[in-house]
Amino acid sequence: MKTSLKPWINDLPDYVAGRTVEEIKRKYGLASVYKLASNENLFGPCGKVKETLKECIGSVNYYPDSDTYEIRTAIADKFNISKDNIIMGDGTDQVIEMICDCFIDRQDNIVTGDPNFLIYEKSALISGGSAKKVPLRPDFSQDIKSMLNAADSNTKAIFIASPHNPSGTIISKEDFEYLLKYAGRNILIIMDEAYYEYMPPQKQLDTVSYLSGNPNLIVLRTFSKIYSLAGLRIGYGIANTEIITGLNKIRLPFNVSSMAQKAACAALADEGYILKIRDIISGERDKFYSAFKEAGIGYVESFANFVLIKTGEKSGDIVEELLKNGFIVRPGVNLGLPGYIRVTLATPEIDDKFLKVFMVIYKKLYQG
Ligand SMILES: Cc1ncc(COP(=O)(O)O)c(C=O)c1O
Repeated sequence: MKTSLKPWINDLPDYVAGRTVEEIKRKYGLASVYKLASNENLFGPCGKVKETLKECIGSVNYYPDSDTYEIRTAIADKFNISKDNIIMGDGTDQVIEMICDCFIDRQDNIVTGDPNFLIYEKSALISGGSAKKVPLRPDFSQDIKSMLNAADSNTKAIFIASPHNPSGTIISKEDFEYLLKYAGRNILIIMDEAYYEYMPPQKQLDTVSYLSGNPNLIVLRTFSKIYSLAGLRIGYGIANTEIITGLNKIRLPFNVSSMAQKAACAALADEGYILKIRDIISGERDKFYSAFKEAGIGYVESFANFVLIKTGEKSGDIVEELLKNGFIVRPGVNLGLPGYIRVTLATPEIDDKFLKVFMVIYKKLYQG
């Protein structure tokens, strides 16, 4: 038998995942390693989530609720919408994949920023379509007008993120409204808000309120970031019922595990914990900025739990030295931004250790 891949599969870009703690411990013989490469919440989930997970162990022999009734009801209450406006995914990644599977055909394209979260492009390519990538503005924000200009008659979706990964910049209300106004109803606007809860409240746009006037809008959220459930894989999309019904046609029946559903309900119920993390991370951002300003090192002002640091031509050496000292960070070159590294903000203690080690490495490499 001769099997053959679809012709475009071999050309798909590889997602270079962050290195694992165990791998780095083994390689450098280290007792402790901190992973600051995938924007996880290093505080971990709240106490109620941990208790809930223990309680769930007794029922893992059963399939999960395919309808995800309890968690969709909780999300619907939070946003004051119907649960029929919500689709759950095995991470937001899966919702993005379902959107492309449903809407992107072979001749179609998506428009997104260059760089942006790789899964938008990858999902469009898997569906047999293509991606038009529009460079960020010099201040690293997504260039909404140029993205609109790049759209053509084959454009089916524009993917934006606020906060944006890997820069941490956000989309202004004016830009968001401009995009909705001029994109045309036949182009989906996917607003990815994976890091939304890390934004200061005065910067948080109520994007869900735009759904009623914009049937082409999809808002994405996840439990992987501030809710600290990345390992359980659960995220969601909010859109009009026609889009959600379409996505449900291709959704696999048990795509979200029972543990993930229960943990997400418990996480959503403890809003106080989330606000506490947001405030701590906001302080950590300021701490990073002061340290970099004092040392004359460039950075991009971020609204998420990570910071892009301008590490210049010796970025590769800096990443390697950090690894030897037990810090895994994401090289900008893997994210389309050579000359930078992206570092996840962790706990105050870990961040202090990181800054100390980073400064020594940076100064040694650049000042000898
Ligand atoms: C902008 C953005 N969107 C979506 C995701 C995926 O999140 P999930 O873990 O829910 O698949 C990430 C994860 O890094 C992200 O950075």
